[in-house]
Amino acid sequence: MQSPTRRRLVMAAGAAILSSPARAAAPLVATPEMTEGPFYPDHLPSDLDSDLVKVAGRNGQASGEILALSGRVLGLDGNPIRGAVVEIWQVDAHGHYLHSGDYAEGERDANFQGYGRAQVDAQGLYRFRTLKPVAYDFRAPHIHVRVLRPGGRSLTTQMMIAGDPQNARDSIYRRVRPDLQRLVAVELRPNLVGPDAGSTARFDLVLA
Ligand SMILES: [Fe+2]
Repeated sequence: MQSPTRRRLVMAAGAAILSSPARAAAPLVATPEMTEGPFYPDHLPSDLDSDLVKVAGRNGQASGEILALSGRVLGLDGNPIRGAVVEIWQVDAHGHYLHSGDYAEGERDANFQGYGRAQVDAQGLYRFRTLKPVAYDFRAPHIHVRVLRPGGRSLTTQMMIAGDPQNARDSIYRRVRPDLQRLVAVELRPNLVGPDAGSTARFDLVLA
């Protein structure tokens, strides 16, 4: 059995390790802002949920490859931002936004919601079921993202795909500071969970 002195020493050493600055998490780096662009929906869909691949009241499913997109909304201290809402909008498989200036009658995939929103849970986690983004015009594949923070500054950015060869020619992506580009370029991985074939992506959003 340990003597009281020995036990106190062991406890003090443990406390010192727990409070050591080396164990404190490094502050996170804020996700870089990127332009909102001209195609935030000028009319919101009747279905506003986080599954963009199915539109309420329609039987079909959007054309394209399914992407399970998730991530956490965090402050610089690494704590989840409670009550945050994440919005995304992106083109359908044919390259059209849910914006009356971006398609003619019949051009859009009516089975793609084009826009969705998700509230974060207590851990700051959000999830979307959407499409792997496709390129259009001069743009590399991307998903527009906006985070609304209750009582605070919001974040507008874009999710790019890491390693996409078109990123190097994308003038909007190239405006992001080179050492921060990795924060908005996410890796796609094959989706091995659940019924959806396709990819998964993890995009953490850190708000300053
Ligand atoms: Fe865009």
